Amino acid sequence: MEVKEASGKLGILVVGVGGAVSSTFITGTLAVRKGLSTPIGSLTQLATIRLGKRNENRFPKIKDVVPLADLNDLVFGGWDIFSENIYEAAVHAEVLKKEDIECVKDELVAIKPMQAVFDQDFVKRLHGTHVKTGKNRWELMEQVREDIRNFKQTHACDRVVVMWAASTEVYIPLSDEHKSLAAFEKAMKEDNKAVISPSMCYAYAAIAEGCSYIMGAPNLCVDTPALCEFALKMNVPIAGKDYKTGQTMLKTVLAPMLKTRMLGLEGWFSTNILGNRDGEVLDDPGSFKTKEVSKLSVIDTILQPDVYPELYGNVYHKVRINYYPPRKDNKEGWDNIDLIGWMGYPMQLKVDFLCRDSILAAPLCLDLVLLADLSQRCGFSGIQDWLSFYFKSPMHAEDRVPEHDLFIQHTILKNTLRKIIGEETIDYLD
Ligand SMILES: NC(=O)c1ccc[n+]([C@@H]2O[C@H](COP(=O)([O-])OP(=O)(O)OC[C@H]3O[C@@H](n4cnc5c(N)ncnc54)[C@H](O)[C@@H]3O)[C@@H](O)[C@H]2O)c1
Repeated sequence: MEVKEASGKLGILVVGVGGAVSSTFITGTLAVRKGLSTPIGSLTQLATIRLGKRNENRFPKIKDVVPLADLNDLVFGGWDIFSENIYEAAVHAEVLKKEDIECVKDELVAIKPMQAVFDQDFVKRLHGTHVKTGKNRWELMEQVREDIRNFKQTHACDRVVVMWAASTEVYIPLSDEHKSLAAFEKAMKEDNKAVISPSMCYAYAAIAEGCSYIMGAPNLCVDTPALCEFALKMNVPIAGKDYKTGQTMLKTVLAPMLKTRMLGLEGWFSTNILGNRDGEVLDDPGSFKTKEVSKLSVIDTILQPDVYPELYGNVYHKVRINYYPPRKDNKEGWDNIDLIGWMGYPMQLKVDFLCRDSILAAPLCLDLVLLADLSQRCGFSGIQDWLSFYFKSPMHAEDRVPEHDLFIQHTILKNTLRKIIGEETIDYLD
């Protein structure tokens, strides 16, 4: 496969750049490239990849054999509804210790959010002050395109990746306006605010500028036929949606375990307490609904109740998220799993994950921007389902079934990297 060289600067434009995930991702990446921190959680930076047969003993680091952009070539920017710079945002987010932020203070201060496309009907709990004005959605999208072009020029970027790490927008169903590019563009020009969300304006603008687009939240956006059509037309990779970080990561490891052992399941109750701004936004029923749909989709696809009705035909699956300010970004996720063993005997499994939301999400952001850029240099376009490893609700072509099992996703990811570098894919039979 011919892969264009990763020469020159790679612009990373993050929507919601002043948020907890974004500021943690950027601060950590800057610290890593100064040699002050270790990129724990990042496959592209730490993982090895087996090449050839097992007995060949070749396990180089991914970053040593896959032509990824160098961290020193990354330039950060983005949009937010608040104007504070990313140093202030990182302090405000209270995820990282002051000393971990201070060491890259100068670089963080220099990153100032551009004005956002925002509509409070889509994120009820936030009141944006740093927002664009325009006649209609189309005009706002044009302003984002201009931002991208200006950023590219000012920072002399060779390529740009755009990533949504902004708040989860309220749930909206797929409507006719999302089903074709022509209908979508018409709705933007007619300012149909009910169906064209701010996230869609950024996605359209990114694709129009030839930039890959990553969707880190669960709301409807690039996973619409219209934007998929546009991405293919423009030869742009798109990937999403909803970073798979804590509870769902565990779910996509534990559910395959039950199925592999042919253990039954009666119920799975998942609850979370979370006190950051994301938790506050998700306290709104509209935004929660979007998240709930994303979190619920996982189990059924893995367990295949239609194939195994005696094991999974009647599973009660419930997900709750409770806003609880004292915990800030340190989310606690509990899972109670009621499983069934030999002759129908019930058992219980309890998981209590005291995690840190943004600490789990940041390395995913780093991997995703590097792999999206790689995809584009490989000439890939449209939905990148080989990046499903990173998402709760992996986007997939209409005629394909999404893959949720974390380890199968991992194999798909690594085999795609092997193909990219002209190595044999691995089936583990050797
Ligand atoms: N942290 C995780 O583990 C995780 C996992 C999956 C998904 N996510 C999603 O990632 C997103 C970010 O999470 P977070 O904890 O950083 O939240 P956050 O509230 O700290 O950050 C979101 C940022 O987006 C900004 N914003 C909102 N609407 C915007 C718009 N239209 N344009 C530009 N900026 C806008 C907000 O001002 C805020 O700074 C959320 O949607 C969350 O659901 C997070």
